Amino acid sequence: NPPNLQMGEGSVLERSNCRAKGGAPGFKVAILGAAGGIGQPLAMLMKMNPLVSVLHLYDVVNAPGVTADISHMDTGAVVRGFLGQSELEAALTGMDLVIIPAGIPRKPGMTRDDLFKINAGIVRTLCEGIAKCCPNAIVNLISNPVNSTVPIAAEVFKKAGTYDPKKLLGVTSLDVVRANTFVAEVLGLDPREVDVPVVGGHAGVTILPLLSQVKPPCSFTQEETEYLTKRIQDGGTEVVEAKKGAGSATLSMAYAAVKFADACLKGLRGDAGVVACAFVASQVTELPFFASKVRLGRTGAEEVYQLGPLNEYERIGLEKAKKELAESIQKGVSFIRN
Ligand code: NAI
Repeated sequence: NPPNLQMGEGSVLERSNCRAKGGAPGFKVAILGAAGGIGQPLAMLMKMNPLVSVLHLYDVVNAPGVTADISHMDTGAVVRGFLGQSELEAALTGMDLVIIPAGIPRKPGMTRDDLFKINAGIVRTLCEGIAKCCPNAIVNLISNPVNSTVPIAAEVFKKAGTYDPKKLLGVTSLDVVRANTFVAEVLGLDPREVDVPVVGGHAGVTILPLLSQVKPPCSFTQEETEYLTKRIQDGGTEVVEAKKGAGSATLSMAYAAVKFADACLKGLRGDAGVVACAFVASQVTELPFFASKVRLGRTGAEEVYQLGPLNEYERIGLEKAKKELAESIQKGVSFIRN
C-alpha cells in the first residue's frame, strides 16, 4: 500500500486546535526540504519537540517515506507529508513556523556562493508559497548562501506585500554551536557552559566570532584567537572535505536548527529573555542585513542587539566581513529585482 500521507488527520490533537497532549500549547511547523540530509534528522528532532503539535514535511522527493517513518514515533506531534509543487500550498497553510533546508549542498572545492544559481530559484518559489499561504509565519532560512537567500526572501515578501522583517531569520546557529564547541575544547570546559556570540553572516570571513565576549569571561592568546577564528569560519568546509563529496554538515546542522527553532517557538509562546544569534534585517551596521544576537518574542526578532565592544582583531574582521556581505546581499536583492 502507498504510505498514508495524511496520518493523524482528524485526530484529537487536530480537533483541539493545536494543543499537544497534556494541554500544553502547540505550534504548527513545516519543514521544506524535509527529505534531505538536514531535513530528515531535523524532522525527527522536531517530532520530539513538545512545543510542536503539527509537523508538515514537504519535499520534491521521498516525502511520503520520511513521513511514514517519522510518524511512527510515539510523540505528540501529528505528522503529514506533502510531495511536489502541487502540494506546497497545503503544506504551508496555517503554519506558525516554516523551516527551509531545501536546496543543494556544497561539494569539496565549492563555496556557498557557488550554490546560488540553483538555490536562489528554490528559495524564491518556496517564499512565494509562504507569502500566499502563511504570510504571518516565522521563517527560518537554512538554504545557502544564507547571506543572499535571506535578501531574496525579503524581496519576494516585499513584492507580495507581506514582508515583516521581524519574521525572516537566516539560521546561523551552527556557527554558534561550532564556536561553543571549539572554544570549550581550548578552555577545557563543557561546551554547554560556553556562550560565544557569532555575528556578521554565514560564509567564510563573514562569520565573525566575538571571542572577546565569550562567557564565562576568559582571555585568549593571539595564536588561540587566530586558530579559533579560522576553525569557526572554516567549520563547514572541514565537514565538506571529510564527507568527500557526499554533502555538507547535516547532523550538527539539524541539531543547530532545532536549537534555533525551539528558541523561536519559546519566543512565540511568550517566554521572556529568549536570545539567539541570527541573520536578520538590521541597523547594527550600515548593511541592511547582519547577524547578531536578537531577542525572540511573540512577533519574531523583536530586538536586534548591538555588537558591543570589539577588540582590534575583531574590528579588522568586521570590515572584511562587511565588504563580502555587502556583495552577497546585493546579489540576492538583484536576483529578484532584475
Ligand atoms: P540535501 O541535498 O541532502 O537535501 C536538500 C533537500 O532539498 C532534498 O531532499 C531535495 O529534494 C530538496 N529540494 C530540492 N529542491 C526543492 C524544492 N524546490 N522544494 C523543496 N525541496 C527541495 O542537502 P542538505 O545537506 O540537507 O542541505 C540543504 C541546504 O542547507 C543546502 O543549501 C546547504 O548548503 C544548506 N546548509 C546550511 C547550513 C547553515 O548553517 N545555514 C549548514 C549546512 C547546510
